[in-house]
Amino acid sequence: MKPSSRKKKDLVITERPRRNRRTSSIRSLVRETRLSPENLILPLFVVPGKNVQNPVDSMPGVFRFSRDRIVQEARRAFRLGIPGLALFPALPDSMKDKRAGEALNPKGLLQETVRALKDACPEMTVITDVAMDPYSSDGHDGLVRGGKIVNDETLDILAAMAVSQARAGADFVAPSDMMDGRVGALRRALDSAGHTDTGILAYSAKYASAFYGPFRDALDSAPRTGDKKTYQMDPANSREALREVQLDIQEGADIVMVKPALAYLDVIARVRAAVKVPVAAYQVSGEYAMLKAAAQKGWVREEDALMETLLSIRRAGAGIILTYAALQAAEILRR
Ligand code: PBG
Repeated sequence: MKPSSRKKKDLVITERPRRNRRTSSIRSLVRETRLSPENLILPLFVVPGKNVQNPVDSMPGVFRFSRDRIVQEARRAFRLGIPGLALFPALPDSMKDKRAGEALNPKGLLQETVRALKDACPEMTVITDVAMDPYSSDGHDGLVRGGKIVNDETLDILAAMAVSQARAGADFVAPSDMMDGRVGALRRALDSAGHTDTGILAYSAKYASAFYGPFRDALDSAPRTGDKKTYQMDPANSREALREVQLDIQEGADIVMVKPALAYLDVIARVRAAVKVPVAAYQVSGEYAMLKAAAQKGWVREEDALMETLLSIRRAGAGIILTYAALQAAEILRR
């Protein structure tokens, strides 16, 4: 039978999902996932000095700011409805050593920045990173001895770092090191120093990923020898992510995180289904760089591609998304 001779009454389509897609307002009524600036956390790199705004080559639109400029960025983010910042210090090599000693300096770059931020914008949630790499002459997240990462001695250093950050006013400390037992060690140290209100956002399922390259450029924190595969997770594993998450929760994590995000959406979904605590995901530097590079070439439409990735991370189950594009996304969402 020729298509033209098919009679209308012969057509029996009982389900027409397209009805719910007919207009923009219908689409908005039936939308299952929402993204708002309130879901976003802006990571920021801080450097010593004044009025410094130093671009990160591999992350177009991202800068290393001095403390005064970070405060301005924080105010801007807060006005756009972004409730949190994650801070990473970028230190000169001369301040790095094997034991990340500078991390414990009560007047250190990170500590002073946290104080300035909490003074200027007390409502803004300030999250600090607990790992040795930005401070370590080895460029590793743990203490290196004889070419190995020494787990238990690292815990003492991480716990002292967390207490120092809490004392400066951090709302959450965020262990990104993947040592065993770190969340418990941090919780005990914080509590015994009286910081029972300081939260722990644990990088629970953090993979040994190729997508951290631009971040390591930004902080000049790449491992000087070897790689991070003896502590960060194997990208092939997802059951192991549940094990890591459960351990972190038992040890006292208030929020758990999956990192990176886009290549691990299945892990985010599994973790969301398995736990009751909030789940965060980190759209990491390489994910950001990939988007920007393709957009600069004119190969994808930047804003559409960015919002689609963020929405997909929400859809997978993350209520909190760390992204270098937080300001840009918040501006798009405000339109
Ligand atoms: C360090 C840390 C890394 C990131 C956050 N904290 C890098 C690493 O593990 O080597 C990566 C973030 C990003 O790529 O955006 N502990």
